[in-house]
Amino acid sequence: MSADQGLPEATIRNVLDQETLKWVFVGGKGGVGKTTCSSILSILLSKVRSSVLIISTDPAHNLSDAFQQRFTKSPTLVNGFTNLYAMEVDPNVEQEDLGDGEGMDSMISELANAIPGIDEAMSFAEMLKLVQTMDYSVIVFDTAPTGHTLRLLQFPSTLEKGLAKLMSLKNRFGGLISQMTRMFGMDDDFAEDAILGKLEGMKDVIEQVNRQFKDPDLTTFVCVCIPEFLSLYETERLVQELTKFEIDTHNIIINQVLYDEEDTESKLLKARMKMQQKYLDQFYMLYDDFHITKLPLLPEEICGVRALEEFSANFSTPYKPPSTLDSVEGLEKRIEYLTQQLKEAEGELDKLRKGKQIA
Ligand SMILES: Nc1ncnc2c1ncn2[C@@H]1O[C@H](COP(=O)(O)OP(=O)(O)OP(=O)(O)O)[C@@H](O)[C@H]1O
Ligand SMILES: [Mg+2]
Repeated sequence: MSADQGLPEATIRNVLDQETLKWVFVGGKGGVGKTTCSSILSILLSKVRSSVLIISTDPAHNLSDAFQQRFTKSPTLVNGFTNLYAMEVDPNVEQEDLGDGEGMDSMISELANAIPGIDEAMSFAEMLKLVQTMDYSVIVFDTAPTGHTLRLLQFPSTLEKGLAKLMSLKNRFGGLISQMTRMFGMDDDFAEDAILGKLEGMKDVIEQVNRQFKDPDLTTFVCVCIPEFLSLYETERLVQELTKFEIDTHNIIINQVLYDEEDTESKLLKARMKMQQKYLDQFYMLYDDFHITKLPLLPEEICGVRALEEFSANFSTPYKPPSTLDSVEGLEKRIEYLTQQLKEAEGELDKLRKGKQIA
């Protein structure tokens, strides 16, 4: 099977066209090109939206490498843009924002340690709360490798479980908590209420965001992968998990595809191309209702805004190896295609003119 007629358009243009989207997640296995793809997507979105924020939630941040600019945990304007901002947050640390005073801080930290994942959930909630008030037209997430991403999306239930556990702890060890809070020199009712209030507040934000994440008009998840067995397997796992969490996904980017640009003599390249073809066929078979965008493997890395912009052409027009265009046959085909497009455009224009005359 190939990416021909009858399949959804083989580009990411649908994401750019969907004006209602507020959250765009980009995820996949380590090293497949998530940061590159999310950076390019944010650049392309900045051309059609009023303001765009790209957030990296990967502790090993690399937006800074991709854009060749240092970013922090506050949104920073990307050089050369007027409406594209980037920030790098670390879901693992940043507990400093969670408490109000010294005692509360350590109290919350204690609780955070007691409930696995809750510290991460809380800082994610804080970040979302902050981002929501900032009023960006669309927010792109460059997520950490798969397992981590799915954990982020599970946070609402993590928080809910955390709260339930806390309530039961409170009932069982009420006296102990009172003693502890008194040790911190706080009125125990006040301390308990403050902690629970804080958690409840987080829960509200996260529930609200969770509702938005489950709305396909507002949220979509773009899966990035490479044409290899492990990546195919991981993508299927990711798609299944997303379906379980009711998060829309209908785009797969297959990165690092080898094209037979000139007849290569290399046995290694030939073997790898054959292998890639096998998995490409499987991707098309498994995901015939997805937009599948193929991106070529370049000889060099894709660093800096210029390189990203250049590579972005492959996001809205399916990549064609240059040799096909350079050959006479290729050029003839291209001219034929363009003539056809011109005819169609003239036809559309004619229809419009006629419509105007009737009106
Ligand atoms: N199609 C490509 N051709 C050549 N180099 C590429 C291509 N796609 C990505 N790269 C390069 O590969 C490296 C890894 O890409 P990237 O950082 O986007 O992957 P990632 O999935 O975000 O990795 P990680 O899981 O470590 O965050 C980068 O140096 C990038 O410039
Ligand atoms: Mg990355």
